[in-house]
Amino acid sequence: MTKTYDDIRHFEHLTNEWLKTTTLPENKHQTEELRNALRFHEYRYYVLDNPLIADREYDLLYKKLEATEKQHPDWVTPDSPTQRVGSALNAAFLTVQHMVPMLSLENSYNAADLVDWDRKARELAGLEEIEYCIEPKFDGAGISMIYENDMLVRSATRGDGVQGDDITTNSKRIRNIPLNAAFSKYGITSIEIRGEVLMSKKSFEAFNRGLTEEGLPPLANPRNAASGTIRMKDPAEVGKRNLEAILYHVSYFQPANASHAPHSHAAMLQMMWDCGFRSPVNEMKVVKGIAAVIEQCHAYEMKRDELPYEIDGMVIKVNDLHLQESMGMTTHHPRWAIAFKFKARQATSKLLAVEFQVGRTGAITPVAKIDPVFIGGVTVSSISIHNQDFIKEKDLMIGDTVLVERAGDVIPQIVRSQPEQRTGHEKTIHFPKHCPVCESQLYKEPDEAVWRCLNAECEAQVVERIIHFVSKDAMDIRSFGEQHIRRFYQLGLLRDIPGIYKINFAEIGKLEGYGAKSVSNLQQAVEQSKKQPLHRLIFGLGIRHVGETMAKTLARAAQSIFDLERMTEDDLMQLEDVGPKVAASIAGFFANPHNVDMLRQLKQLGLQLTQTQEAKVSGGDFAGKTFLFTGSLQQFKRSQAEELVEKAGGQILGGVSIKLNYLVVGEDAGSKLEKAKKIPSIKILSEEDFLKLLSHDQ
Ligand code: IVH
Repeated sequence: MTKTYDDIRHFEHLTNEWLKTTTLPENKHQTEELRNALRFHEYRYYVLDNPLIADREYDLLYKKLEATEKQHPDWVTPDSPTQRVGSALNAAFLTVQHMVPMLSLENSYNAADLVDWDRKARELAGLEEIEYCIEPKFDGAGISMIYENDMLVRSATRGDGVQGDDITTNSKRIRNIPLNAAFSKYGITSIEIRGEVLMSKKSFEAFNRGLTEEGLPPLANPRNAASGTIRMKDPAEVGKRNLEAILYHVSYFQPANASHAPHSHAAMLQMMWDCGFRSPVNEMKVVKGIAAVIEQCHAYEMKRDELPYEIDGMVIKVNDLHLQESMGMTTHHPRWAIAFKFKARQATSKLLAVEFQVGRTGAITPVAKIDPVFIGGVTVSSISIHNQDFIKEKDLMIGDTVLVERAGDVIPQIVRSQPEQRTGHEKTIHFPKHCPVCESQLYKEPDEAVWRCLNAECEAQVVERIIHFVSKDAMDIRSFGEQHIRRFYQLGLLRDIPGIYKINFAEIGKLEGYGAKSVSNLQQAVEQSKKQPLHRLIFGLGIRHVGETMAKTLARAAQSIFDLERMTEDDLMQLEDVGPKVAASIAGFFANPHNVDMLRQLKQLGLQLTQTQEAKVSGGDFAGKTFLFTGSLQQFKRSQAEELVEKAGGQILGGVSIKLNYLVVGEDAGSKLEKAKKIPSIKILSEEDFLKLLSHDQ
C-alpha cells in the first residue's frame, strides 16, 4: 500500500540507502521502494515547495529508476514517476462523462447576499446556526480526476458540466498531481476529486514575457493561460508551463461506507492533503455563523494581491457532509455552498482611437486609447493591442465597447470587443504602411506578426534606444528620465548614445527648470555610469533577444566587448541558452559598422568595456554560493545588495530551498525565515553578518 508522506524518517532512510549504493534495484519490491522515495521528493518539491534533497540527488535517483525500468520493462507501473513523460501528442481529446455532474456555484456579491443565503440555509437545515468552511475561489480551469485502487486513471476538463475532455496525459505533466495517492488508507477504492488547474502569477508573467519576446500577443490572464495549456496537443509543452493543481472537492467515492472516510469538508481537504495533493488546508477556515464568514471574506479580499495565484472570490461550504447531502442541489448548483465574488477587475470602456508607437527595435505597436476606467486600484486609459493579428483576432474597431481586464498586478489587456453593441458608426483600424515618425516604408517578416520600421536612424528608435540605455536595469543613470531625454533630443543637445557622455551641461543649465543642483546631479550620474559592469552595458545596447540574463552570460564569456565582435555565430551558440536566433541577432549587431563605431566612441569617452575582475563569477569570494534576502533591509536597497552578491560571484535564488546557502534577514522577516530555520544547512545572517562576510571578516 502507498504511504502518506508524514513519515519523513522512513523516506529519508530510503533516500539515503539508494543514494549510497551504486547498484540498481534487484527486484520489483526494491524498485517500488525507489519509486516511493522519488514520489516523496516530488511531493516535497511540488506540493510543499520545501525540498529535502538537491536537484542533483533527485536526478540521480530518477536515472537509477529509469535504468532499472529499461532493463526490466515488465517492472514498470503506470504510476511510476517516469510515466509522467514520454507520451505521444494528443490526437484528439476523447469526450468523457463525469461520474457526478460538475455543477456551478450560486454567486453572492455583498454581506447582505450572504446573510440572506445563510437564513435560507438555516431554514432548510432546521438549525439555529451552521458551521461553514470558507476557502478561496481559485481562478483557473476546473479539473476532475478519478483514482482507482490509489492510481490516477482519468482526468477530465469541466466541459459542459456533464461531459468533458479526457486530459489524462496532459494532467500527468502537472508535477503536483500525484499519479498514486493512498486513498485506500481511508477504505476508499474509487474516488472522483475536483479542483482547479492554475498558473501562478509569477509563471504567468514569465510566460507572457516569452510570448512578447517572440512578437506574439500576451494572454489576458492566468486563467486563460491555464485553460489553454491544459488542452494543448503536445504534453511536453504542458510540462514546460509550470501548471499547478489545487483540489477542493470530493464528488464521489466508493464504497459509500468506507471505514475511515471523513465526515466534514475540512476533513476531506485534509485527507486529500495527506494523500499528497495540494488542497487549501492552510487557506481554509472553519467558523460558526455568517458574521464570521463575512469577516473572513473581507479579510481575504484585502490579501488578494499578496497571494501567488489569482483568486476571484471565496467559496463558503456547509462543513458537515451529512448536512450537505440532506440539503441537496438544484440543477444548477448545490444548496450547501455559495461563492462570494470579489469586486471585478474587469470593466467595459470605449475604444476611442489607436496610436502607433515605434519601439527601439523599430517594432510598431498599436496602442488603444480608451475612455479612462478605474480597475483594481488604477485608472487605465492606454492599452497596448500588440499587433495587427491581435486586432483581427479580437475583432476591434474604433468606437467599439471593449472589455478590459487587469489581473492582479499584471498589465491591463483588452479581453474582447462587444460587436453586438455596435451602432454602425464604428471605424476600421487601418494599420499604417509607413512609419508614423520617419515615414519610411514598414516591413514585416512573412512568419512574424510585427511590422517594423527598418530605418535605424528613425528619431523614435534613437530616442527609445537612449531611454533603454540609461534605464534602471541597464546603465542606471538616475535623474536622466524619459522626459529629459525627449527634450534634449528635440533641442539637439543629445542625438545618440555616445552623446550622453558628450553632453554640454553648461547649455543644460541655461534651460528652464534646470537648477545648478539638478545639473550637477545629472553630471555626476553620467560620470558614475562609466564604471557600470559590462553586463549592464551589453543589456543597455538593446540587441534583440538579449535580455538581462543573456547579457550576463555574454559578459561572462568575454574579457572585453570587442571579444563578442570576434565571435562567430557558432562560437556564440556554445554559450548557455544561446540558440541560432539569439546568435544571429548578436552577430548581426556587431556586423553593423555603426554599432562598432559607437562602441569605439564609448571606449574613448572613458566607459568600461571590459569585464572587471570582481565580476568574474568564478573568481569572486562568493563563487558557488547562493543567497536570498528577506524582510526590509536597513543598510541598502535589495537590488544593491543583490548586485554586491553577484559581483562577488554569488547567485541569488528565488526562494528558500535546500539549495540555499545564506538567508540575509532584514526587519519583519516572515515565512522565508521560518522555512529556512527548518533546513539546518542554511546559514541565517543579519545585515551586519552579511557586511562582515563581504569584507572577509568571517
Ligand atoms: S466547489 C459542487 N470550491 O468555481 C461544488 N469550486 O463558479 C463544486 N472553483 O466550477 C465547486 N474554487 O471550477 C469549489 N474552492 C472552490 C473553488 C471552486 C474555484 C470553481 C469551480 C466551479 C466554479 C463555480
